[in-house]
Amino acid sequence: MSLTDSIPNNVDLASDPKLLRALEKWQPNFLSWWRDMGPDGFQEDKIWLRTAISVDSNGWAQYDYVKMPDYRWGIFLAERKEERPIQFGDHIGKTPWADVPGELRGILRRIIVTQAHTEPASVEQQRLLGKTAPSLYDLRNLFQVNVEEGRHLWAMVHLLHQYFGRDGREEAEALLERRSGDPDKPRILQTFNETTSEWLSFFMFTMFTDRDGKYQLASLSESGFDPLARCTQFMLTEEAFHLFCGETGIDRVVRKSAELTAKDPNGDARKLGGIDIPTIQKWINFWFSSAVELFGGEISSNAADYFATGLKGRYREDKYSDHVAMENIYSMDVLEDGRLTKREVPMRTALNEVLRDEYVEDCERAVRKWNKTIEAAGLSERLFLPSRRFNRSMGMYAGFHFSVTGEPLTREQFEAKRDEWLPTAADRAYVQSLMKPVYEPGQFASWIAPPLHGVKGTPIDYEYVKFNERER
Ligand SMILES: [Fe+2]
Ligand SMILES: [Fe+2]
Repeated sequence: MSLTDSIPNNVDLASDPKLLRALEKWQPNFLSWWRDMGPDGFQEDKIWLRTAISVDSNGWAQYDYVKMPDYRWGIFLAERKEERPIQFGDHIGKTPWADVPGELRGILRRIIVTQAHTEPASVEQQRLLGKTAPSLYDLRNLFQVNVEEGRHLWAMVHLLHQYFGRDGREEAEALLERRSGDPDKPRILQTFNETTSEWLSFFMFTMFTDRDGKYQLASLSESGFDPLARCTQFMLTEEAFHLFCGETGIDRVVRKSAELTAKDPNGDARKLGGIDIPTIQKWINFWFSSAVELFGGEISSNAADYFATGLKGRYREDKYSDHVAMENIYSMDVLEDGRLTKREVPMRTALNEVLRDEYVEDCERAVRKWNKTIEAAGLSERLFLPSRRFNRSMGMYAGFHFSVTGEPLTREQFEAKRDEWLPTAADRAYVQSLMKPVYEPGQFASWIAPPLHGVKGTPIDYEYVKFNERER
């Protein structure tokens, strides 16, 4: 491990001067991107952050105050487990590739570049949120997520530089040129161009959108391309905290909402400065339907190719008994003449849907927890996930209309219900109106409950951010 190097790493960069020089050339461009597109303000403040310093499962991170531009973004690959052959697809049983096989170069580059764009994109989407943080605890967590997405960008750029030569270097440059939401050079996937201008959306993003990332990374973590497998394995370690922020963040909003609903004589949480349950439901409908798009088309030859080539497996491939998946079929709901019917498709072409199934199940688990929180407050309302067919603009349900429970509707029927199901301009304005910063240690905005614990054993009123007084 070389932490004193210009780029901390466990990939022995020092022994590859050409690669090191290329990355050192990219580094100032990354920093200027961070200054331009990373958190707006706060760059001179000291934030209590976790920094990855090794891949040791007994202590891979260090916590300390750091100014964000001084954060030590490093390159880490998980340790190689015992020599494991490729676990699935047409190359099953063969030795994993330590280098890119010529015939898989294009497909592998596409996988890496698609993942890579999501990392800086989310930082760009969240750049204004620090100004309205509901507490120091949340402010620090936002920045933790942001710097780690920056490190994930480094992880992807390392793969591009090391294994894809000139093309890879060009892709790495392009990663700093596209901008979330820019009409001329947007980020690759639509969800990463949605603005995240208030904190309810931040929690929805880290709950639903980052969770797509978890499933994508997990399905790459057993890739036949060994460096990609080990790179994504370690990214998952950091990702777990992002998902925690989302899931517990929503739970805290729900808890406060339920508390205020019970307290107000007319059961209106808004009257007491909270976010009412129906509004939270609309945000879930919007962000969940946006995130499920990220899994790709229901029937997909790309997904089949990724699996066949051994580059991208299923979530926890070891759970399955058949790792070739040539003979199996998958039964899915398709729309025929305006009606839903079951159709059987070859398993390999349905792998996007298989991954989406795992994701939806995980999200349902979180919804059950939030409902327990509502129930504990003595309220009868319940949250739910909309049908995966609802509000889709990609895949086979795109262009059709469905209710939140998944029944086919005409356009008129859908439009008549739209404001009941999705955030309206007035809802957005209301949520935005609540966004006032709370920077006193241990204090929380009116619409969110405190967390159960502080970060890493600290008390909830810990001074997670030390402001540089000259900046204020
Ligand atoms: Fe990430
Ligand atoms: Fe993340």
